[in-house]
Amino acid sequence: MSKTAKPDPIRSIVIAVDGTAASGKGTLAKKLAAHFGFAHLDSGALYRLTALSVLEKNGDPSNEADALKGAQTIDFNRAGDPAIRTDIVGKAASQVAAIPAVRDALLDFQQNFLAHPPGGSPGAVMDGRDIGTVICPSAAAKLYVDARLDIRARRRWTELKAMGIRRAEQDVVAELEARDAADKSRPVSPLKQAADADLLDTSDLGIDAAFAAALALVSPKVDGALKDRHRG
Ligand code: C5P
Repeated sequence: MSKTAKPDPIRSIVIAVDGTAASGKGTLAKKLAAHFGFAHLDSGALYRLTALSVLEKNGDPSNEADALKGAQTIDFNRAGDPAIRTDIVGKAASQVAAIPAVRDALLDFQQNFLAHPPGGSPGAVMDGRDIGTVICPSAAAKLYVDARLDIRARRRWTELKAMGIRRAEQDVVAELEARDAADKSRPVSPLKQAADADLLDTSDLGIDAAFAAALALVSPKVDGALKDRHRG
């Protein structure tokens, strides 16, 4: 049996933020964590660090042995390294993420983070693709963040430009489209909206408006969970 099928042991208050690439989920997750005083983990960084480890060893991200070795040799100190934010690493991250052994290797780290948020925080916010569906199906609040492809591509193009990476916008559109299609169609932990997740479309919202909308959806659930915790 795959490890991903094991029961969910998490008791802390979890906000799961899943969604498509460049939908704004990472920014929203960070802002939600700051608002509630919760810990935050960008789970995509784990797959990007795995991919970086594979690429730096001249390995093949779609080869199971190479990818698993990458997951087992992640250098967490490089989570803030701009090298993991390139499109090449993003594509390789999507390839390693489709391999069940890689997902299993990263599962415990993510569930431990949620069960014991760093700093003794009562809760944690995690963003990714399968947080509400696989990593923590019992999350107190779940958001599924999406936006139109052209809008997401423009955001990513602007981000890359700020990092000094100049790309044709239509190439960014094609890459995001291909990566989302791969993430949604893979047999293991595909990207999909959990049945109990709230959909937030950020296409026509700036950061402040998107955060206000996220907070309106999440706050009643988190406040309810905090009250239950104090009672219990
Ligand atoms: O979110 P980000 O774009 O950094 O994620 C990079 C890739 O990592 C995604 O395209 C996806 O394939 C993979 N990923 C995943 N599950 C997660 C987070 C990321 O499969 N929870």
